[in-house]
Amino acid sequence: MQQAIAVLDSGVGGLTVVKEVMRQLPHEKIVYFGDTARTPYGSRPAEEIVAFTREIVDYLIHYDPKMIVIACNTATAVALEDIRQRVELPIVGVISPGARAAVGRSKSGVVGVIGTEGTINSGAYDIALKKLSPPVQVVSLACPTFVPLVEDGNFRSVETFNTVADSLLSLRNTTMDCLILGCTHYPFLAESISEAMGSDVVLINSAEETAREIHSILDANNELAKPNEVPIHQFFCSGEPGKFQEIAQEWLGRQIRLTPVVWQVPRIGV
Ligand code: DGL
Repeated sequence: MQQAIAVLDSGVGGLTVVKEVMRQLPHEKIVYFGDTARTPYGSRPAEEIVAFTREIVDYLIHYDPKMIVIACNTATAVALEDIRQRVELPIVGVISPGARAAVGRSKSGVVGVIGTEGTINSGAYDIALKKLSPPVQVVSLACPTFVPLVEDGNFRSVETFNTVADSLLSLRNTTMDCLILGCTHYPFLAESISEAMGSDVVLINSAEETAREIHSILDANNELAKPNEVPIHQFFCSGEPGKFQEIAQEWLGRQIRLTPVVWQVPRIGV
């Protein structure tokens, strides 16, 4: 049986990475888990996010993946190293790829980062960006209202455009030329974020660079899917399946096979 790339997120956000993996690596099989019962992760304590990430990774391991992608910035910021210590598979996060993409694009040397409270408070992007380019100036902002809009499928309403514009107001008076969408949910709001920031600011979505990293690791390990493989992807979500399926099918432009999951283990924080 074809070994999959396992991808996880707190909800639908990781689908932005899945879409890019499907585009760049169309023969790879994907097994996706969205923890929609416990989304959002962004304002939860770090130890809770680590516990949730461990639970999901343990679940996905049963599907014998060849790699795990933590397609959630918040979980990458606080749980990536923990999972790397526990699991002997390549583990890919989304923060280093996003930082690399931004440093490659910025001319002014001023890079903006928007993300959840967890990601912004962790300082993970500042560290990753300064490691790549010590003189870079980082302007960060937590946007806690964005993820619930996305999980509701509320991408283009007037309310969404107004909320996004109000939230990003403080970033308008800077000299940043790149804004990292430091939450995998935010590419769903790209239109409103772009309108709020103006055309001089390039939005950086880490999905493209993350998919490139996945490709190079699989290639180096000689584990790329054969060109004759026709993958059958699998999607799991821990919450109400209807909304997840609707958003996933619209975003990915295809029907998906979705299995709702009822956790068998005691859950923290719910
Ligand atoms: N999509 C996730 C991220 O990239 C998590 C958002 C949340 O659940 O708050 O941070």
